[in-house]
Amino acid sequence: MIMCTKQRIVGLFVLSAVFLATVVKRTYGNNNGIFADCVDGPSVWYRGTHNFTNTGTACQRWDTNTPHTPRYVPVDGGEHNYCRNPDGDLRGTWCYTMNVSSRWEYCEIPKCPDDSLVIWTNYDSKSQSSHLLSVQADPEIVKKETDTSGIFNVSVVVGSRETQTEFWAIASDYLRRKIFFTDYRSEYVGVRFLNSNITVKYFKGMAHGIESMAFDWKTRNLYWTDSEFKWIMATDSSFRYYSPVYRSGKREPPYGLAIVRRKMYFSTYKAF
Ligand SMILES: *[C@@H]1O[C@H](CO)[C@@H](O)[C@H](O)[C@H]1NC(C)=O
Ligand SMILES: *[C@@H]1O[C@H](CO)[C@@H](O)[C@H](O)[C@H]1NC(C)=O
Ligand SMILES: *[C@@H]1O[C@H](CO)[C@@H](O)[C@H](O)[C@H]1NC(C)=O
Ligand SMILES: *[C@@H]1O[C@H](CO)[C@@H](O)[C@H](O)[C@H]1NC(C)=O
Repeated sequence: MIMCTKQRIVGLFVLSAVFLATVVKRTYGNNNGIFADCVDGPSVWYRGTHNFTNTGTACQRWDTNTPHTPRYVPVDGGEHNYCRNPDGDLRGTWCYTMNVSSRWEYCEIPKCPDDSLVIWTNYDSKSQSSHLLSVQADPEIVKKETDTSGIFNVSVVVGSRETQTEFWAIASDYLRRKIFFTDYRSEYVGVRFLNSNITVKYFKGMAHGIESMAFDWKTRNLYWTDSEFKWIMATDSSFRYYSPVYRSGKREPPYGLAIVRRKMYFSTYKAF
């Protein structure tokens, strides 16, 4: 792709997104302290013992042919009649039923609490301001909530009422629930602490050309490409120590960026 200028396309558009999740308690109890069965993560992983469908019908064993001949058998062998999702159905677990007239039905097992989010930066050219927006990351939850309406439940993570903001690159510290983002216009690197909803600004005046960021979960360093300064900058997560780790010639500033276990990958573009 040839990127010629710094002019932005008008309209509401997505710049880049990160996947952010947190470690959540994976079981939840009711008032009696009894832990309910729930689907933790993708329902293809479900290994619980829920054995009836959403109509209350008993499930058929997966390893028998009565009353229905199964087409799918779960990877655990199916020597039971528990709800499973052997075909990766986004609507969740299901089973063949003991009702001769109803071959298979979905089971109604709640999802375990999951606050994984997809967060992205946007720019609204009308108000000339940016936001960090989020939707739930789990496609099964998204499917359930949006399937009929087609409306995504978008939340504002960071809303800027100031005009002249232009959030651009974004990265996350998964464990510490931190979002790093840049503002092209006001020129800073922002850190949003999701637990406290506090935003702190760093590198003021040095962030005009930041195109992408990557966080190394192992060293906890943050890296970014800058097409103005034509370098890749590295900083520790306290922003006390920082240094360019790469400088390009005039013609090919670094652009996209990814960190994978002791290797850094980046793309460049011809600036003319
Ligand atoms: C379903 O599971 C419950 C509890 O484990 C058990 O008591 C019941 O017999 C099972 N029903 C069928 C039809 O397998
Ligand atoms: C069996 O399934 C059919 C078709 O869904 C339904 O009409 C019938 O009521 C079910 N029978 C029982 C006993 O649940
Ligand atoms: C959107 O999210 C909010 C907060 O999580 C929730 O209360 C609401 O029910 C959701 N709306 C839809 C349509 O899913
Ligand atoms: C931070 O914001 C989220 C989303 O608006 C909210 O649910 C949460 O309670 C807030 N946390 C604090 C500590 O204010």
